[in-house]
Amino acid sequence: MIFSRTTALFALASGVYAQSQYTSTGTAAVAKAAATALTLSPTSSVAGLTFDRFVQIWLENENYSAAIKNTNLAYLASLGITLTNYFAITHPSQPNYVAAVGGSTFGIADDNTHYISSSTKTIVDLLEDAGVSWSLYQEDMPYSGFEANYVNQKTGANDYMRKHNPLMSYNSVTSNTDRLAKSKNFTMFYEDLDNNKLPQWMFITPNMTNDGHDSSLATAGTWSRNFLTPLLSNESFNTDRTLIILTFDEGLTTGTNQVYAVLLGGAVSSAKVGTTDGTAYNHYSLLKTVETNWNLGSLGENDVDATAFF
Ligand SMILES: *[C@@H]1O[C@H](CO)[C@@H](O)[C@H](O)[C@H]1NC(C)=O
Ligand SMILES: *[C@@H]1O[C@H](CO)[C@@H](O)[C@H](O)[C@H]1NC(C)=O
Ligand SMILES: *[C@@H]1O[C@H](CO)[C@@H](O)[C@H](O)[C@H]1NC(C)=O
Ligand SMILES: *[C@@H]1O[C@H](CO)[C@@H](O)[C@H](O)[C@H]1NC(C)=O
Repeated sequence: MIFSRTTALFALASGVYAQSQYTSTGTAAVAKAAATALTLSPTSSVAGLTFDRFVQIWLENENYSAAIKNTNLAYLASLGITLTNYFAITHPSQPNYVAAVGGSTFGIADDNTHYISSSTKTIVDLLEDAGVSWSLYQEDMPYSGFEANYVNQKTGANDYMRKHNPLMSYNSVTSNTDRLAKSKNFTMFYEDLDNNKLPQWMFITPNMTNDGHDSSLATAGTWSRNFLTPLLSNESFNTDRTLIILTFDEGLTTGTNQVYAVLLGGAVSSAKVGTTDGTAYNHYSLLKTVETNWNLGSLGENDVDATAFF
């Protein structure tokens, strides 16, 4: 079915229309949507206190103790500040992503499909109020605004998962076409990079292989180094006002949920390169850091009492 009227009407009647307009995964439907789905690449230059661009990159499921010993992740840590007391919020994956943009898990405790009330705000409400541009970059999402899961069309392996897209569970995002249009794939990331149209706030999710979920820590480490190395020397991405955090959604369920988290980019002063910071942080610190930097106020959730990186 390609955006069938029946589906749309049923969805509208059941109140989940916002979550069902871009869910077809068939080849023809995807090709059609890829050709027509709205894609937006807003930019802005709102001066922040410490940085003018914030980039979050999330890998999957590894303990701090193992990740910090991985050769490539240790190499990246040597280029920035290692946060040695950084914790994920919960298990499994999805509520961590949800919490990182909304300040709460909103009771979500699994990886199922959830719809958070349209009255619930996220960081993008605060960013938009302040004129700070934002986008999500989700590897292997077949087109902008896509709302389902997507597999590799040749192998059937998992590629893009909705549960790893931090904003997709929020009706306040999915009911808004302009917001859906800022949920983009890596093709768009490189296009935006080429055109000097990257936003000031972004969240990057590699596919299920590259983030380590369906592969290994070694794969996630290699991907991270290969992805970041050219970008760190690319002024369209990294200036002395760019702050990058590379972290993991959660640790293994056997552990304390301490995860690897490293601050990178030109906003890390040369005096701080190669240092560690033992302050207690968690994923809510991502919100507090952004709110503090651009004087955004708060969501009134766990972001309020979180500690900012600066
Ligand atoms: C990425 O998204 C764009 C915009 O919707 C689409 O045209 C393109 O085909 C997608 N790229 C891939 C590799 O799926
Ligand atoms: C994930 O992306 C890489 C390229 O970055 C690609 O080689 C790999 O096949 C993708 N994984 C799957 C399962 O498609
Ligand atoms: C930045 O990356 C883009 C896209 O890959 C590329 O076109 C451009 O040449 C790069 N710039 C530098 C300075 O490396
Ligand atoms: C994960 O890390 C914790 C410490 O937080 C440790 O107790 C646990 O054994 C680790 N699990 C594995 C499989 O290494």
